[in-house]
Amino acid sequence: MSQLAPILPAASRSARMALMLALACAAAPALSDSGAVPPERSGEQLVKQVCVQCHGTGANGAPRIGDAAAWKSRASQGLSGLTKHAIAGLRKMPPHGGKMDTSDLELERAITYMVNQSGGHWTEPIDRARPPKERTGEQIVQAQCHKCHEKGVNGAPRIGDRKEWIRRAGPGLDSLVRSAINGHGGMPARGGMANLTDAEMRAAITYMFQTSVKHPTSP
Ligand code: HEC
Ligand code: HEC
Repeated sequence: MSQLAPILPAASRSARMALMLALACAAAPALSDSGAVPPERSGEQLVKQVCVQCHGTGANGAPRIGDAAAWKSRASQGLSGLTKHAIAGLRKMPPHGGKMDTSDLELERAITYMVNQSGGHWTEPIDRARPPKERTGEQIVQAQCHKCHEKGVNGAPRIGDRKEWIRRAGPGLDSLVRSAINGHGGMPARGGMANLTDAEMRAAITYMFQTSVKHPTSP
């Protein structure tokens, strides 16, 4: 639910973030990455390459970057709702902003960037330019997720339940990550850890999934 929190003015913070990002890019050109995902465009890059064409001016009713009111009304759908529309298109909004080679993740980051440039304070999904100070998936699971996922409290997919994790992962990891970020049923948004980054969420889910697939256990 933290993603749905009211949008507050945070322009100076976004500016600082942008600066930090630029510095991090300059300072760390070749991070050895733990994930297997290829390098992606940052949200800012994608927005400047593609989305700004319409969202810079607000052409055809596109929510204009910097227009807090326009984004606030849309942001109530949450990142997953907005991303769904960005993927599928919406009236004069072309699917993927007209650039079909963009991944779901890149779109999520572009949307987060536009929301944050417009008074929002959403967490940037995976930021590969920032030195990995992140907690590992295992650490996060031990610290938090295991409280429900160890025993399967309230129907949480149990760590070790191979079949259930494979079933849940059916629609793909991106969709699972989004679902866990937004929360539903007994699953709190971000697993109840407000400071969990999207990258950490992904790592924690990957850890629970891998463990369950490789080392299935009976309840
Ligand atoms: C050709 C113009 C155009 C481009 C390019 C474009 N958009 Fe849009 N976008 C629109 C318009 C127009 C709307 C408003 C659609 C409506 O509600 O009728 C919109 C709406 C949106 C929304 C709000 C959807 C909702 O559910 O309310 C999101 C999110 C969005 N765009 C993301 C993006 C992203 C990310 C990019 C770049 C990858 C992008 N757009 C590129 C025209 C564009
Ligand atoms: C308070 C208990 C609780 C905690 C803590 C918790 N979960 Fe969950 N989780 C649940 C429950 C219950 C479900 C099943 C929800 C449903 O399907 O309705 C669930 C479902 C999920 C799913 C499957 C979502 C889907 O769409 O199928 C993922 C992934 C997940 N949790 C990841 C995590 C991660 C990662 C953490 C730790 C950061 C975490 N959870 C912490 C209770 C919890």
